[in-house]
Amino acid sequence: MVKICCIGAGYVGGPTMAVIALKCPKIEVAVVDISVSRIAAWNGDQLPIYEPGLEDVVKQCRGRNLFFSTDIEKHVAEADIVFVSVNTPTKTQGLGAGKAADLTYWESAARMIANVSKSNKIVVEKSTVPVKTAEAIEKILTHNSREIKYQILSNPEFLAEGTAIQDLFNPDRVLIGGRETPEGQKAIQALKDVYAHWVPEDRIITTNLWSAELSKLAANAFLAQRISSVNAMSALCEATGADVTQVSHAIGKDTRIGPRFLNSSVGFGGSCFQKDILNLVYICECNGLTEVANYWKQVIKVNDYQKNRFVNRIVSSMFNTVSGKKIAILGFAFKKDTGDTRETPAIDVCKGLLGDKAKLSIYDPQVTEDQIQRDLSMKRFDWDHPIHLQPMSPPASKQVSVVWDAYQAAKDAHGVCILTEWDEFKTLDYQKIFDNMRKPAYIFDGRNILDVEKLREIGFIVYSIGKPLDPWHKDTLAVA
Ligand code: NAI
Repeated sequence: MVKICCIGAGYVGGPTMAVIALKCPKIEVAVVDISVSRIAAWNGDQLPIYEPGLEDVVKQCRGRNLFFSTDIEKHVAEADIVFVSVNTPTKTQGLGAGKAADLTYWESAARMIANVSKSNKIVVEKSTVPVKTAEAIEKILTHNSREIKYQILSNPEFLAEGTAIQDLFNPDRVLIGGRETPEGQKAIQALKDVYAHWVPEDRIITTNLWSAELSKLAANAFLAQRISSVNAMSALCEATGADVTQVSHAIGKDTRIGPRFLNSSVGFGGSCFQKDILNLVYICECNGLTEVANYWKQVIKVNDYQKNRFVNRIVSSMFNTVSGKKIAILGFAFKKDTGDTRETPAIDVCKGLLGDKAKLSIYDPQVTEDQIQRDLSMKRFDWDHPIHLQPMSPPASKQVSVVWDAYQAAKDAHGVCILTEWDEFKTLDYQKIFDNMRKPAYIFDGRNILDVEKLREIGFIVYSIGKPLDPWHKDTLAVA
């Protein structure tokens, strides 16, 4: 029986390993983590992450061939294949701070593997890492090897939160990079055999190590670049009277462009896009490729611009001040169908409004009050350093209240902001919301999910990103 161990029971390690266990009943899969509370949650009724379909998969194999444990050394020692899926945040200090990937967690996992291994192993990079990380890992392992042979593979994960289980069941492709030696090819084949249990062979791509590592950074950079491109267009649409939804539809019909990832919004978020682009920028700079670095930097700049633009629009349309005004925030997660708030645009929008002394009433169906208060009090990049050492909850801000109902959030509010595209926000009773709000009542749709005309008929002053402006907004002060 092949044994797999995955170090890191997070958004990637947990779902990925659960699906491997489900699809490969003859493989024993152990997911290990230093976070005692995370492992306890994986073993309990309330899983540590919300992901549609995940609970069902976990329940089918937990205790059968899927195990969650804090006994890291035991499971690593016993495994034939060790996946490393630890967090790789942006460095906050020292060389490359604010850009380079912090490989502290990765390095400590590699050293631990070297210390406890008694048999040959395939070590798989599942985390997103800078290109050439495998070389560093190889050095750590071989210099501490005591005759044990390691093969390093890069097998980046392309799942998207919110659709992780669907993506894992039916991936567009699985990418495996390895050394071009006979041993390297043998290791690639061993990992291919695992995925071949459910992924068609023509979707399993094999490359050299560096191509696999770089492909993950490149894929995220391309995806984020599409969002920044359409968001840049949204600003031009507002200035000209074009409608970004119509523009997206028109250009998406071109098969060379395609329709996906063309929704304009308040900006992208999530733990990966910004971090991975910064990492890419840093690698380009280290290789003397300034123009290339600047090109990708711009994707992040436009994203920041879009969030600022949204805040400015809110403040300027409310007579240039939101001081003391109640504003309802609907949605805090970085996208629908996840409770993940890492780098969510809601943090920047809320901080912007709080900076102008607004009072916020926040509702998200999957995010706890604790998490929201913590996110609003943390410094940039601190959130990913590391989950098990998260600070105690800060004292709740008096300017922020978190409620469990959209209607309550909007009661007596001057404005409502939609910051996550949760389906339930599309079907709220907006007449009821309007009736209970201060007048003029504003809606700022940061996800373009609402019917602007209907809302205007009710009496709202509506701002929807990239859509023709309400005369009200044209009359208010110019937005940066
Ligand atoms: P996460 O923060 O949810 O999980 C990482 C886990 O690793 C944490 O539970 C942490 O306690 C644990 N850990 C850290 N050091 C450890 C050690 N030495 N020994 C044992 N456990 C340790 O992170 P997430 O989101 O799962 O991401 C992991 C990697 O996958 C990152 O490199 C990320 O860029 C990449 N990735 C993430 C995707 C996502 O959608 N979240 C998608 C694709 C890739």
